[in-house]
Amino acid sequence: MSALPGSFEGTAVTGLDSSPVEPAAPDLPRLTAQHEAEARELMARYPQARSALLPMLHLVQSVQGYVSPEGVGFCARLLGLTKAEVGAVATFYTMYKRHPTGRHLVSVCTNTLCAVLGGQRIYDAVSADLGVGHDQTAADGSVTLEHAECLAACDYAPVVTVDYEFYDQQDVDSARELVAALRRGEKPAPTRGAALTDFRGVSRQLAGLSQHADPAAAQAAVDGPSTGEPTLRGVRLAAERGETAPPMSGAQPDDAPEPDVTPAGTTGETPAQQAADTAVASADTPAERAGAAQHHPDTPEPAGRQPAERGAEGTDRPATQGQAGSGTSVEREV
Ligand code: FES
Repeated sequence: MSALPGSFEGTAVTGLDSSPVEPAAPDLPRLTAQHEAEARELMARYPQARSALLPMLHLVQSVQGYVSPEGVGFCARLLGLTKAEVGAVATFYTMYKRHPTGRHLVSVCTNTLCAVLGGQRIYDAVSADLGVGHDQTAADGSVTLEHAECLAACDYAPVVTVDYEFYDQQDVDSARELVAALRRGEKPAPTRGAALTDFRGVSRQLAGLSQHADPAAAQAAVDGPSTGEPTLRGVRLAAERGETAPPMSGAQPDDAPEPDVTPAGTTGETPAQQAADTAVASADTPAERAGAAQHHPDTPEPAGRQPAERGAEGTDRPATQGQAGSGTSVEREV
């Protein structure tokens, strides 16, 4: 166990790696008032402001390339949490990095199916080329390498991702060439999904923000063909055989009546209004209270921004997203 530098609350290491968070380098970009404004925008998207911690940690990584001690303090201060609480979250998920990440993050799946089909050989070859091991960065700062558990693309095994974009059905030679191209400053097109950016760019996307002010460019940055033949083949076979997924327990049939939203109790409020009142009243911190109040049904929408434009997760996803043929690299159609 090791303490987060600057965290007097104590130790907070729960992930696979107990190495200490790396202190900030003198030339590390600082978190500015603009980043604080963006963090507050993220907080306002949730009934409980602290629910924004995960995207806020991605925001920190988009600026500094890892969750720095400054980033831990930044999130803790805005959310009214202790640094230990923020550190406990940041060290639990492997997508949050403790050391500055290279320009690109290369993840090689070495889990069962990929390993059987050559994933470990790919990892070993790329590791030798870069001269680094797991969670280490090449001396030129171009690539951080990691071995990954199942990347949820077993039908395309062996799989490599770069900045979480998929490069399917790799072999040793193709993966070595992919990494060599990244080191030359090239951005080879992923097999599926959005165009490749870099680790800081994709961190901003994961925060639910965009690198692009232009709406069309913002949409293009997260959209791309998301299905491939191996997945479609399974869907076709199921259709040919008349196979369907079993119903989920507790699922409502399609013709179930709409829930009652008429005023209930003696207050004359709808259940949604009562729930929102409770959320505001039970908020632990002023920030949480502000977030809950912002999502109260009685709170007017900010000018120029309508609910339908927000997207399901508050991302750049446009209102047309979710129609056939418009899946993103995160939300894939089959
Ligand atoms: S085992 Fe590699 S993607 Fe599932």
